[in-house]
Amino acid sequence: MQIDILTLFPAMFEGPFSESILKRAQEKQLLSLRLHDIRNYTTDKHRTVDDTPYGGGGGMVMMPGPLIEAVEAVRGPERGVPVILLTPQGRIFTQRVAQELAQHPRLILICGRYEGVDERVRQTVVTDEISIGDYVLTGGELAAMVVVDAVARLIPGVLGARWAAEEDSHAMGLLEYPHYTRPPEYRGLAVPDVLLRGDHAAIERWRRREAIRRTWQRRPDLLLTAQLSDDERWFLAELAEQDAPMLV
Ligand code: ADE
Repeated sequence: MQIDILTLFPAMFEGPFSESILKRAQEKQLLSLRLHDIRNYTTDKHRTVDDTPYGGGGGMVMMPGPLIEAVEAVRGPERGVPVILLTPQGRIFTQRVAQELAQHPRLILICGRYEGVDERVRQTVVTDEISIGDYVLTGGELAAMVVVDAVARLIPGVLGARWAAEEDSHAMGLLEYPHYTRPPEYRGLAVPDVLLRGDHAAIERWRRREAIRRTWQRRPDLLLTAQLSDDERWFLAELAEQDAPMLV
């Protein structure tokens, strides 16, 4: 997969893109991350990318010219490449959206700055708008890193074990069950017996139930759409009788 990122601050990406799994994914040529400085698509001596808003008001607006030219140059003649603007006005980024984006061979991400981008950028080249949550960042760069990270780990071969991404929290529609490793007892806290006995069916059942318990306690909203067996629905009903979810 190839992801092109249009930004005024390409250096911001250096750390996150050159460590750990994203680094290895690029080395294995499963992922190509290309950074493009929007300033390279300006035409004036001062390399201007923003201007004051028509109609007045505070802040600066990113000019349409450099952004649109940058998208067109980077995209080339190819059709059907999603051009995604990172903005708090976009649709909320979820695991489902990450899965959807991971199906594309190419993505172009535009990082907005200042008060926003000229509306004509949306009208001409943008095909999708994504927000990583209901809060306002200083720009789209951190949001783009979040999107790249969540999408990259879904590309086949990027994570070590094939099933690692499928069992994730949210991929199952539930939060994850608790994890334990050695030692079997630490500061008086024991690893649940069932995990030490090697009965894989019992372990699987325990994990599903603990995932349901955790989801009920922390994110009961997710249970509205989670796929549960009849037996698991009974378990949930028992849980609901015992304790109320933690309120946020
Ligand atoms: N740019 C500023 N805030 C953002 C957010 N929450 N998501 C995506 N892009 C942004």
